[in-house]
Amino acid sequence: MTATTFEKLSEKQKQVFRWAFATNYKAIICDGAVRSGKTICMIAAFIHWAMHEFNGATFGICGKTVASAERNIIRPLRSIADITAYFRLRYSASTHLLTVENREKCNYFFVFGGKDESSYELLQGITLSGIFLDEVALMPESFVNQAVARTLSVKKARYWFNCNPEGPTHWFFQQWVLRAKEQNALHLHFLMSDNPTLDKEQLREAETRFSGVFYDRYIRGLWVVADGVIYSMFDASQNVLPDVPFRPERELIAVDYGTFNPCVFLHIYAAGTGDGIAHFIDREYYHNGRGEAVGAAVQKDDEQYARDMLAFTGGRKDIPIIVDPSASSFITRLRHDGFTNVCPAKNAVAKGIAAVSVELTGRRLTFSPDCVNTLREIPSYVWDVKHAERTGEDRPLKINDHCCDALRYGVYFDILANAGMRPSVSGRGAR
Ligand SMILES: Nc1ncnc2c1ncn2[C@@H]1O[C@H](COP(=O)(O)OP(=O)(O)OP(=O)(O)O)[C@@H](O)[C@H]1O
Ligand SMILES: [Mg+2]
Repeated sequence: MTATTFEKLSEKQKQVFRWAFATNYKAIICDGAVRSGKTICMIAAFIHWAMHEFNGATFGICGKTVASAERNIIRPLRSIADITAYFRLRYSASTHLLTVENREKCNYFFVFGGKDESSYELLQGITLSGIFLDEVALMPESFVNQAVARTLSVKKARYWFNCNPEGPTHWFFQQWVLRAKEQNALHLHFLMSDNPTLDKEQLREAETRFSGVFYDRYIRGLWVVADGVIYSMFDASQNVLPDVPFRPERELIAVDYGTFNPCVFLHIYAAGTGDGIAHFIDREYYHNGRGEAVGAAVQKDDEQYARDMLAFTGGRKDIPIIVDPSASSFITRLRHDGFTNVCPAKNAVAKGIAAVSVELTGRRLTFSPDCVNTLREIPSYVWDVKHAERTGEDRPLKINDHCCDALRYGVYFDILANAGMRPSVSGRGAR
């Protein structure tokens, strides 16, 4: 890994360093666009601040999970020349402890995962002199409150928060961003142009990748509601093609399972890696257990669906089958029937949708006109605004969502499998 140096810091990034050393704020909140240089400058400033102010103290570095914190924070941190020139860093992956020292001082930084049950328990017994919460909007509020509570006995303790925006009812927006003044927090809003390493061409290219609510959140950095049609960027004249527009490198089947509700299998061709992944949905299986007309309902059991799967794959049992993670009995059935590559899908709803949206926007996700049910559902796949108002969490309304759920299971799984751990949508860890 090449060393990162801060030869150039943007004005916004300089403000982060100034905040740490020259102000009395208790907290800093950096929110805004993806790849805007929040994490890298904050973690460097955090370490410098901690080493300047404390000796023999313990701190918390938190990501959504321990693994994402190690990937997005600890690894990049160890390649920042402006840190390694001053301090010796040792990281123990077994204890999740980063030790930072120079000739006079030594401090300890425990890595926690906001969504890891075990982290929550560990956090409960510890006193922290500062907490760094990367992608804080992806953590449960209870975890963040607990982390803050661990610092209350340390007068000089500070809180470092960063995130990309979610919906405006999200707890972090309500409790911290909107109440920054009461919380004695400095709020800095980042845009991609605050990352001094991105040139104009890269900025323009990044902007064209997103549309709809994802453009507002990930490019404009705004806390806006996800409402209306989810895949508003879908354009039948560009996303529907008679044939696979690339040479397929792999294929997979995505499954949304239902007994009363429709059960869907999608056959997907894929090619490429990283930001260049393309998908073509060339066939679908759609069975509606309720039937179209009264009396027409034919419910199928797992055994029948497994038989239909075998017919759908043309007798192949080694093709990857990505299944609705809640359909555990069907997963077991398929494995029992000799399918060798059956995987539960990752049900990260918002991220799966964001990944599909980016591909639709870039016209890398295309469909055969034969996928009539999928093409019928896409324009009526809409956000559940009431659910977001109640919980702050984005999810689709649970109607006309069967093909679309299968679609995001398959596409997101393939992106994760072929782009390292991070989907290319946002640079937000495998969040
Ligand atoms: N001043 C800088 N000097 C060198 N590299 C930088 C600088 N600012 C940002 N970068 C690099 O730009 C990339 C994006 O920065 P970073 O990960 O901090 O963005 P972010 O705002 O946290 O993004 P996200 O919201 O997607 O997590 C990283 O590779 C980082 O090392
Ligand atoms: Mg970041």
